[in-house]
Amino acid sequence: MSRIVIDGLTKTFGETVALDDVSFEVPEGEFVIVLGVSGSGKSTLLRSMCGLTAPTEGEILLDGEPMVAPRPEVAMIFQQHNIIGDLSAYSNALSGGVHRSGFLTSVLQLQDTAEKHRALEALDTVGLLDEAEQKARRMSGGQQQRVGIARALVQRPDVLLADEPVASLDPGSAQGVMRYLRDASEERGLTTFCSLHQVNIARKFGQRFIGLRDGKKVFDGYRDELTIDVVDEIYGDIDTEGMFVDTEATRSADSEEVPP
Ligand SMILES: Nc1ncnc2c1ncn2[C@@H]1O[C@H](COP(=O)(O)OP(=O)(O)OP(=O)(O)O)[C@@H](O)[C@H]1O
Ligand SMILES: [Mg+2]
Repeated sequence: MSRIVIDGLTKTFGETVALDDVSFEVPEGEFVIVLGVSGSGKSTLLRSMCGLTAPTEGEILLDGEPMVAPRPEVAMIFQQHNIIGDLSAYSNALSGGVHRSGFLTSVLQLQDTAEKHRALEALDTVGLLDEAEQKARRMSGGQQQRVGIARALVQRPDVLLADEPVASLDPGSAQGVMRYLRDASEERGLTTFCSLHQVNIARKFGQRFIGLRDGKKVFDGYRDELTIDVVDEIYGDIDTEGMFVDTEATRSADSEEVPP
């Protein structure tokens, strides 16, 4: 439940301009999807927003406070889900509270009942309560990614950042994970930022969209404004026709809701 302001954000790596004077504001509770081809700056934007990458110019404000280092109110979910295969779904989820309980308490699982309850609640949110005792490595890629979401929720963040959370999944699992991410975000009123390659999945689950191209913000708008022309502008020469759920509806900028 936090308001984010990105003001003139530029990030360079040597000669490479990864982000070029990007500005936008996000009110609390919004679900934003960042679109762009490989190398357009999506990960750099998300890493800057969680304090892992320092801006070259400009700033990021979270409720008016500059983000200069990682903060517990901001949780990040990665593509490679970074969960521990030998631990159960429950233990992985529980470890999301390590910043509150401390490392030793976390390793020895000496957290208090409220914290353990939080881990079970988070697994329930992502539909994995029945799998709580299952070792993570025995779970499917989609389930593992949902464990990653549960762990992020146990952190009790106000802002959720997800960098290509479904990039390595088949379309069915990808939609499942996105549905859980959106529902968790809605249920808890989280401001959520998610980068995606797949425009069709983005259209189905996103509320607002930010398009990056060569580090520049080339689009910022809502679903009915995300027309084929806009997608062409974001993706350049790449064939984008197949990226739509319903090409005709999009061509005519029909704003009909796509059901989940
Ligand atoms: N740590 C780094 N050192 C040097 N260059 C970097 C670094 N991180 C990113 N870049 C460069 O910045 C640009 C933007 O990269 P970024 O990873 O943000 O893109 P992306 O949109 O996330 O791409 P992808 O879809 O492949 O994940 C690229 O040209 C990349 O090579
Ligand atoms: Mg990336």
